[in-house]
Amino acid sequence: MAGDLVLLTGATGFLGYTTLIALLKAGYKVRAAVRSQSKASKVERAPSFKALKASVDWVTVPDMTADGAYDAATKGVKYIVHVASPIPTFGDEPIPPEKYEEYFLKGSPKGAVGMLESAQRSGTVERVVITSSTVAILPFEYFTGTTDYTIDFPAEHRIPDVSGPFKFEFQAYSAGKAAALNATEKWMAERKPNFDLVSIIPSWIFGRDELVTDVQSFTKGSTNSVLAGLLLGTKGETPFNGNAVLSDDVAKLHVLSLDPKIPGNQSFIASVDMEWEDAIKILKKSFAKEVEDGTLSVEGKQGTLPIKHPNKTTEDTFDGFKFTPFEKIVEAVANQYLDMAKREVLS
Ligand SMILES: NC(=O)c1ccc[n+]([C@@H]2O[C@H](COP(=O)([O-])OP(=O)(O)OC[C@H]3O[C@@H](n4cnc5c(N)ncnc54)[C@H](OP(=O)(O)O)[C@@H]3O)[C@@H](O)[C@H]2O)c1
Ligand SMILES: *[C@@H]1O[C@H](CO)[C@@H](O)[C@H](O)[C@H]1NC(C)=O
Ligand SMILES: *[C@@H]1O[C@H](CO)[C@@H](O)[C@H](O)[C@H]1NC(C)=O
Ligand SMILES: *[C@@H]1O[C@H](CO)[C@@H](O)[C@H](O)[C@H]1NC(C)=O
Repeated sequence: MAGDLVLLTGATGFLGYTTLIALLKAGYKVRAAVRSQSKASKVERAPSFKALKASVDWVTVPDMTADGAYDAATKGVKYIVHVASPIPTFGDEPIPPEKYEEYFLKGSPKGAVGMLESAQRSGTVERVVITSSTVAILPFEYFTGTTDYTIDFPAEHRIPDVSGPFKFEFQAYSAGKAAALNATEKWMAERKPNFDLVSIIPSWIFGRDELVTDVQSFTKGSTNSVLAGLLLGTKGETPFNGNAVLSDDVAKLHVLSLDPKIPGNQSFIASVDMEWEDAIKILKKSFAKEVEDGTLSVEGKQGTLPIKHPNKTTEDTFDGFKFTPFEKIVEAVANQYLDMAKREVLS
């Protein structure tokens, strides 16, 4: 309810910032746990945040895997929205392979379970919402294109085991997200706390990212860079899962999940099925001028793994909620790119 105090993590990142704005717009009071105050200052300079003239209680938690990391941050809060987790580097300086197990496979569940433990010690928490991922419910062979794609993967699907060694950073990240989902559900079942858990399961998240303000940062180091690359002519070598969701939709679902009318102890898919190369068709249709003048390119190639994540339960449970179609998702990313590119040409 408006006025209730929410602890948010990850607000210095893409989805977390978008969620912060959605929480403030819905009237929640927000305490945000960040790794450094300089990143918090960056959030305070971003346009939507400034426009709201809101204040946030920033608390510093440098390492979420430390014992009791969130004990102080959870004091007196009614809700927790836990977005932060170790994430892949998408072309930024990669995590060294010898650290995969420690950073992803152990780090992800430790951060998530640590949050539940702090929530229990606080005694005031009624619900915890955690950002999971579709990678947490998909066996890894589905990313390699070596299996059949006739079955659906609903929110309740779980994978039995995820042990290393891991060949790729993305594989280790996926295993960590699966381990975190597994560990939090197991913890809930064993400890039976006075709060419930909602897990949001997004696929590829794309959309305007106010914390990124230049073309160079937009085209590497984030999930947006993958779609932006395709719109600029990148030819992908391996097919990707054909599922995506607008960042605003994911943020909104995190906020709507705090409504006591939504039953707890559930997980929800946040995704629409898509084909990557539809992005090229959308460019031809909606950005003909920019394709013509060479700012965007229709030469990009990207194969699709036809993985199916039914989203009807989410739309039905969150009464009246409709996922934004892939066309609008592509437009959001293209438009942010074009805005930044124009500004850089002018300056
Ligand atoms: N982007 C996607 O397509 C996608 C899809 C499905 C699920 N998700 C999930 O969505 C969440 C947010 O991802 P995002 O795309 O917004 O990534 P992002 O922009 O990189 O943001 C990640 C956030 O988590 C924090 N963080 C990262 N590693 C951390 C660690 N070891 N300890 C404490 N905080 C840490 C970051 O803090 P700093 O700013 O200090 O680095 C940042 O605030 C994650 O749980 C991710 O798994 C993302
Ligand atoms: C989930 O936990 C169980 C028991 O704790 C373990 O056997 C299983 O491998 C785990 N699965 C994942 C995906 O982590
Ligand atoms: C959610 O699960 C936890 C752990 O099993 C339990 O304590 C709680 O009562 C459940 N809440 C609801 C609403 O079912
Ligand atoms: C998900 O939602 C969108 C928009 O409501 C819809 O077009 C789509 O068919 C749905 N299902 C899947 C599996 O993507």
